[in-house]
Amino acid sequence: MKNILVTGGSGLVGKHLTRILEENKSEVSWIGRSKKERPFHQKYNWDFENGNIDKGWLQNTDTIIHLAGAGVAEHKWSDSYKKEIYESRIKSTKLLHDTLSNNDHSVKTLVCASAIGIYGNNCLESTDETFPAQTNFLAKVCDDWEKEAHKFELLGIRVVIIRVGIVLAKEGGFVKAVSAPAKWGLGAAFGNGKMMTSWIHINDLCRIFMKAGNDINMKGAYNAVASNPVSNKQITKAICQALHRPYFLPNVPAFMLKLVLGEMASMILANQNISSKKIEKAGYTFVFNYAEEAIRDVIK
Ligand SMILES: NC(=O)c1ccc[n+]([C@@H]2O[C@H](COP(=O)([O-])OP(=O)(O)OC[C@H]3O[C@@H](n4cnc5c(N)ncnc54)[C@H](OP(=O)(O)O)[C@@H]3O)[C@@H](O)[C@H]2O)c1
Repeated sequence: MKNILVTGGSGLVGKHLTRILEENKSEVSWIGRSKKERPFHQKYNWDFENGNIDKGWLQNTDTIIHLAGAGVAEHKWSDSYKKEIYESRIKSTKLLHDTLSNNDHSVKTLVCASAIGIYGNNCLESTDETFPAQTNFLAKVCDDWEKEAHKFELLGIRVVIIRVGIVLAKEGGFVKAVSAPAKWGLGAAFGNGKMMTSWIHINDLCRIFMKAGNDINMKGAYNAVASNPVSNKQITKAICQALHRPYFLPNVPAFMLKLVLGEMASMILANQNISSKKIEKAGYTFVFNYAEEAIRDVIK
């Protein structure tokens, strides 16, 4: 991978990935929504609501890494926010597709994010990539996003889909959300605490994105999760321990989460035991295999 266009580059994964790609001698540009002050990497703008997109990247990009989309845990899931979560992924992918389809370009590979949410909220047995997409809201978002991404294959572009698990990172996401109350001694698991969480350290995730761009044998969907999922209780306890804070409160009951968060609670209460076998078989060796070790690394 030499010249890479990242969408959603300003996000949690995008910033980390940019750093790792550049350390590995790739040229990285971002395409993003217009901002008052453009971040250094954001060389291109797009506005997929109105179908506007800068085209300077078309002739000098070999790989697109598509991460952009409204955050699924950022706001309560009102009807309008659900529409934003959905459309920010589908319309942006369509715009990229149509732009490539209507112009000369040098793009060979699309690596598109998706999520293990595609498997629904009840994966009790180790679930692999052959498991069918479910029909709840997040599963539908992922499924339709992946279908849009697969259309790039008809343009002769190799497509790799990375179904991302719960990302463990210092800068944000799950660890930051659980750490905030835990720092005040208020860390508590959710529901019955037994739901399986399929997590991945951000460094492993970014290396998987990089491998997907480089490895021409990779095609189709891959789960990006470490091989040892843990229960919600175990991961919450590990965060409290890494912060040297007590873990003694009773779990937050499921009904309370549903009252406060509405439909979004289903994502937090999801039971997801997801398999990492396919990406390991493709040759990826995880640096972080155990949640406690990954959490200690991001909280140090
Ligand atoms: N973090 C996780 O635990 C996790 C788990 C599973 C899947 N994923 C998926 O992986 C991708 C990257 O995750 P992330 O944690 O880095 O996400 P993030 O921090 O929320 O960043 C996503 C980026 O998408 C762009 N964006 C945000 N809202 C948008 C909107 N309404 N319309 C268009 N673009 C918008 C923004 O880039 P600009 O402002 O530069 O345009 C933003 O920086 C996401 O699609 C996410 O759903 C993440």
